[in-house]
Amino acid sequence: MITYSEAVKILADYGQEHILRYYDELSEEEKNELLRQIELTDLSVLEDFKHRNDEPGKRGSFEPLDAVTVDDIEKNRNEYLKAGIEAIKAGKAAAVMLAGGQGTRLGFDSPKGMFNIGESRELCIFQCQINNLLDVVKLTGTFILLYIMTSEKNNDETTAFFEKNNYFGYDSSYVKFFIQDMAPSVDLNGKILMESRSKMALSPNGNGGWFSSIVRAGFLNEIHEKGIEWINVFAVDNVLQRIADPMFIGAVISSGMQSGSKVVKKASPDERVGVLCLENGKPSIVEYYEMTEEMRTLTNESGELSYKFGVILNYLFNVSKAVEILNNKLPIHIAKKKIPYMNDKGVLVSPDEANGYKFETLVLDMIHMQDSCLSYEVVRNREFAPVKNAIGTDSVESARELLKQNGVKL
Ligand code: UTP
Repeated sequence: MITYSEAVKILADYGQEHILRYYDELSEEEKNELLRQIELTDLSVLEDFKHRNDEPGKRGSFEPLDAVTVDDIEKNRNEYLKAGIEAIKAGKAAAVMLAGGQGTRLGFDSPKGMFNIGESRELCIFQCQINNLLDVVKLTGTFILLYIMTSEKNNDETTAFFEKNNYFGYDSSYVKFFIQDMAPSVDLNGKILMESRSKMALSPNGNGGWFSSIVRAGFLNEIHEKGIEWINVFAVDNVLQRIADPMFIGAVISSGMQSGSKVVKKASPDERVGVLCLENGKPSIVEYYEMTEEMRTLTNESGELSYKFGVILNYLFNVSKAVEILNNKLPIHIAKKKIPYMNDKGVLVSPDEANGYKFETLVLDMIHMQDSCLSYEVVRNREFAPVKNAIGTDSVESARELLKQNGVKL
């Protein structure tokens, strides 16, 4: 562990000496806890904060990317299904559930997957997802290795919940948890917030680090030994998420492409979803706020939106490529959020307004590191029911409605 004077030096480099303000008053144990935290936290993200008001990095030139549409997929159903089932049976596919987020918009204190979406019975989000995965187990006769990314904030509660609920009927030997990295949260002036006198306020560093965190957790050997070639990465908060979907896996394999992304037709030009397209000839996701009015409304000869396919956070990555780009730096996204912090009187406060920034890398930025990506259209009402907010758009209400439409008893 680093010494006090080493910690002073590290912090001075980033103008964060206030972290040690209470050091002399701390117990030996608390002192060590703080020094360890300083040693393990990657403060280099603070460099990005300095440049947050710079002109955004210039993006390349965009072009639409065609998708295999729902109709195309139907025509090739037998071929895709066969290829996907074969890959799953041969143990070539695994899945990674991204469940390290804090779900601040939903305002639920426990991990989002524990949220009960049922009405007359208990049906939590984790169970909805595992039920969908069990459909694939039934079809293929094969359990699929499921890695679950948690954060230090929610790991214990998540793992205990899976234990208590008997892994929702999944074979527990196929479920592995790993913990993602944390990043410091700063106030509006870029000073790291404190959670207590001996702890910086840290938050999960976004879903972009899923592969490096899996590697650090020591699972790469297992992935290689088991011959896993494809990893399906998906968000925990879509209750209609189809996981390790054999058709999707089969379509990507048959296409010979390096990766795949499920997409849906945008509901309107202004829908707030990232769009899968080409940037300088390579696959890329452009966020809704990065699109110009012209891009948003451009139409093709058939009168349809040219940039019409939005991503739903369900990707298929190739393991060899993920290893190759493991050390490539992903861009840091700086998000203004409400961050609980210790005030000058030493009291922990939960602010009502956004009071600082969090630093995140995003899995969608991995798409631009791929040579190719199959854009795979799915039927929106069957596969996309995100739970982001308590009410309104992408909410508990809208997700319940969609679950019912799909025959799930609530
Ligand atoms: P969101 O970007 O919607 O973030 O996550 P969130 O933390 O769940 O919710 P808000 O923004 O605070 O309301 C998309 C997916 O990525 C995961 C989430 O668990 C969700 O499945 N995620 C997000 C992580 O695994 N780690 C993170 O650090 C952030």
